[in-house]
Amino acid sequence: MDERLCHRLEQLLGATALPREAALYQACARDESNLGSYPPDAVVVPADARELALLLEFAGAEGVPVTPRGAGTGKSGGALAVRGGIVVSTARMNRLLEIDEADLVAVVEPGLITGALCEAVQERGLFYPPDPASLLSCSLGGNVAENAGGPRAFKYGVTRHYTLALEVALIGGQRLSLGRRSTKSVTGYDLVGLMVGSEGTLGVISKITLRLIPLPMQQQLFVAMFDDAVAAGTAVTRLVTAGVRPSAMELLDAQIVEHLRQSGRWSARGQVGAILMVELDGPEEGAVERLERAAGLTESAGASEVVVATDAGRCRALWEMRRQVSVMLRDACPHKLSEDIAVPCGALPEMLRRLDRIAVDHQLEVAAYGHAGDGNLHVNILSPEPLEPASRDAVLLAIFRAAISLGGTLSGEHGIGLAKRDFLPLEQEAGQIAVQRQLKRVFDPQELLNPGKIFPDA
Ligand code: MLT
Ligand code: ZN
Repeated sequence: MDERLCHRLEQLLGATALPREAALYQACARDESNLGSYPPDAVVVPADARELALLLEFAGAEGVPVTPRGAGTGKSGGALAVRGGIVVSTARMNRLLEIDEADLVAVVEPGLITGALCEAVQERGLFYPPDPASLLSCSLGGNVAENAGGPRAFKYGVTRHYTLALEVALIGGQRLSLGRRSTKSVTGYDLVGLMVGSEGTLGVISKITLRLIPLPMQQQLFVAMFDDAVAAGTAVTRLVTAGVRPSAMELLDAQIVEHLRQSGRWSARGQVGAILMVELDGPEEGAVERLERAAGLTESAGASEVVVATDAGRCRALWEMRRQVSVMLRDACPHKLSEDIAVPCGALPEMLRRLDRIAVDHQLEVAAYGHAGDGNLHVNILSPEPLEPASRDAVLLAIFRAAISLGGTLSGEHGIGLAKRDFLPLEQEAGQIAVQRQLKRVFDPQELLNPGKIFPDA
């Protein structure tokens, strides 16, 4: 902590915005990326957009780096203060300002926990679909900054598809109101689209207007067992080709199921090569036929067994199990590497085949799970010890090259941040990176906002 800097900020913003607890400073030095500890010089927790803008004005005038922080659940190091300076936390800007049932919008502050919004709108018969696994602890500002997805993105899309308008503050203190409350607006450049997924490098979000949709009437879930992950991936492409549109299709490979079993979360007997969790939703009318058709197609696509979750409690337990996979793996393998490549859905079986080969070639345990309908796999390297940098980079390079050569991407949902910035040129040509660097300088000419993220060092 830089006491002098904290003191000056306290004079500007008051004592409540400058908590000094050591535990807070320790927490703000890390996120869930496992990329190490970057202690900030000051942690500022503004009460509102006015204080946030004052802080950014100060930072611009003094040339101090600022790193925005939501709930710290990010996986790519986006919230790490790699150049020191100020971490600005949105924890106190966490109000649900409005739910409007006629306009079908919710207006929130960035620190609101995603699950709290989901629950509040559900009580009014409305639905906010983006559902990252960490939805009970992540914040909506972080979701917007990272363009978060989740299992239901397959049918309903990601955070970008629900973000209508944003209020943001720029380094220097300028405040911008972007987008409109109306579902449609094509006026001018799509600056909301640019902000969503910009990983806190362009502006700091102070207010978000989100689109809501009616709550689906009926949800059903079945679990299908396969001999291996490639067979499960092949079934996914078959279902998609047949026009089945589940609200989620989650794949868990054999290693993941084994870890679930060992941790007491999966109790069914017998060897399982891979699991697909398929959730369907829609009107009550036709629900039985919908379920029968999807389950039948899954069986004829190669499932050895299909088990329908017959009651709401069982569905909740299965989703809880799925949401805990990442935490479970971290507990079992603290040194794991966790990736989130995505490929076009039709390339999913081939990507899974290539992962098998990569595991053999690099003699590492490679486990995969994730949002199969989106071709978005969380590929985990489960090594008992930290890998040597050369072996780590070699296996990551092999995974990224496989995904990109199949038309896919380095990151389907966790962002580039610090974790993958050196790999960006694998996916994007120099000209595209240069244009993005120029855009960054339009918003932040001194390169003070979340520096050291997304782009490799020049
Ligand atoms: C998930 O889908 O479980 C998360 O996005 C993956 C993770 O936490 O690694
Ligand atoms: Zn995920």
